[in-house]
Amino acid sequence: MIESEPYLEVSCLKKHYGEEGSRVDVLKGIDLTVDRGEICVLLGPSGSGKSTFLNIIGGLEHADSGTVRVDGCELTERSDAQLGEYRRSQLGFVFQFYNLLGDLTVRENIEVGAHISENPLDVDELMESLGLWEHRFKFPSQISGGQQQRCAIGRALVKNPGLLLCDEPTGALDYKTSKEILCLMERVNRQYGCTVVIVTHNASIKHMAHRILRLRDGRLVSNEKNASPIAASELSW
Ligand SMILES: Nc1ncnc2c1ncn2[C@@H]1O[C@H](COP(=O)(O)OP(=O)(O)OP(=O)(O)O)[C@@H](O)[C@H]1O
Ligand SMILES: [Mg+2]
Repeated sequence: MIESEPYLEVSCLKKHYGEEGSRVDVLKGIDLTVDRGEICVLLGPSGSGKSTFLNIIGGLEHADSGTVRVDGCELTERSDAQLGEYRRSQLGFVFQFYNLLGDLTVRENIEVGAHISENPLDVDELMESLGLWEHRFKFPSQISGGQQQRCAIGRALVKNPGLLLCDEPTGALDYKTSKEILCLMERVNRQYGCTVVIVTHNASIKHMAHRILRLRDGRLVSNEKNASPIAASELSW
């Protein structure tokens, strides 16, 4: 059996927005350890703090207090410039609504990710495996939602990131395309060993995860290891 090794370590993480009457305590003290190479699924009702949590882990927002360590390095004390460097070098981020650059082709959108990485994957190979080869010279407005999401995933994966964070990656996709995207994530996790956190409203996706997390009202109310994950292709909902 392979020894588990902590990759993401979160301790007493707190975050609020607004002040006084409009103050919202969004994260109320999160403690969590995720091992290297795990696929985690983070579930929770709307407003429970999932995106806020992901954005802090992803260096897009600062926490109020607490610590976040990624691969042994502390994030919470870093300046914006240092967080930018962290995002560039270690992170792939997949957003719900793709955030592709509309003036760039599929290929160019993915190349953006490759340019900023020290250890990128081969762009052509990746487009092939994402089923985007024939669409490589098209602009985002000329391809379907699923193809746009595959392109956004390509842009995140081409960096060969240690940590892949996905906020509702299948939220805007139909059943078949959602499953294709999940199969792809499973494949890159196996192939490259990246640690993956998937935020979703779809509880069925938890069955493919190695770890299942649940947030409610800013607190982590459960954190279970899944002893026997099933293949993404076997999921149904
Ligand atoms: N920039 C902000 N300013 C003020 N309040 C915010 C901000 N971002 C989030 N919030 C509030 O923080 C709470 C948690 O938001 P968050 O986006 O993390 O929830 P979520 O679990 O991702 O929800 P959903 O499933 O709907 O995406 C919500 O009450 C939201 O209104
Ligand atoms: Mg959200």
